[in-house]
Amino acid sequence: MIVSPSVLSCDFGNIQRDTEMLDQSQADWLHIDVMDGVFVPNISFGFPVLEAIRKHTKKTLDVHIMIENPDDFLEQFQKSGTDILTVHYEACRHLHRTISRIKELGMKAGVALNPHTPVSVLEEVACDLDLVLIMSVNPGFGGQKFIASSVEKVRSLVDLRTKKKASFLIEVDGGVNLETGKQLAEAGAEALVAGSFVFNSASPQETISQLKSL
Ligand code: DX5
Ligand code: ZN
Repeated sequence: MIVSPSVLSCDFGNIQRDTEMLDQSQADWLHIDVMDGVFVPNISFGFPVLEAIRKHTKKTLDVHIMIENPDDFLEQFQKSGTDILTVHYEACRHLHRTISRIKELGMKAGVALNPHTPVSVLEEVACDLDLVLIMSVNPGFGGQKFIASSVEKVRSLVDLRTKKKASFLIEVDGGVNLETGKQLAEAGAEALVAGSFVFNSASPQETISQLKSL
């Protein structure tokens, strides 16, 4: 299992310490949630914070942007150290163009789906994607309750990938813990994001190791 701890739940007063802790852990990627207060009802952080994180880890930066008009900022995300850039399907009018541009800039391209968005909307771009992110909560906040129907959605996405002979990775974000993570792993998820479950645990590094072994 690829594990991508969400920095959104870290202690921002100690972001260097927490980034270094993740860097020393078994985490594969670091998940970075950028929110603009328009696409989602919350504001998180932007480029200066992303650049600060980049300085303190060599791990893959898995950047999930919950913003309107993502096209205006693709280059700046690349310059700030993004490895995988995931845009929301619901925020892109010309999704194919956005995905192409992300790849032209040398990043891996991901698309996130809100809980109400069916996987079928990705049929025509399935072969162009490096990653699909299934949101298992409504985006905007850490610590929310897992939406149980997301497990079935992962199965539908596996079927779509087979049908289209595509090769994207399947990642799930929101309410992930050992119990929901196990269900998602069985359904075919290959990457799990976990924020509050990792950072609220007694030993974040140990929790990351447990998630890795799912
Ligand atoms: C929610 C974010 C998530 C969030 C997950 O909008 O996309 O990445 O950090 O937090 P938990 O794991 O606490 O649900
Ligand atoms: Zn996220």
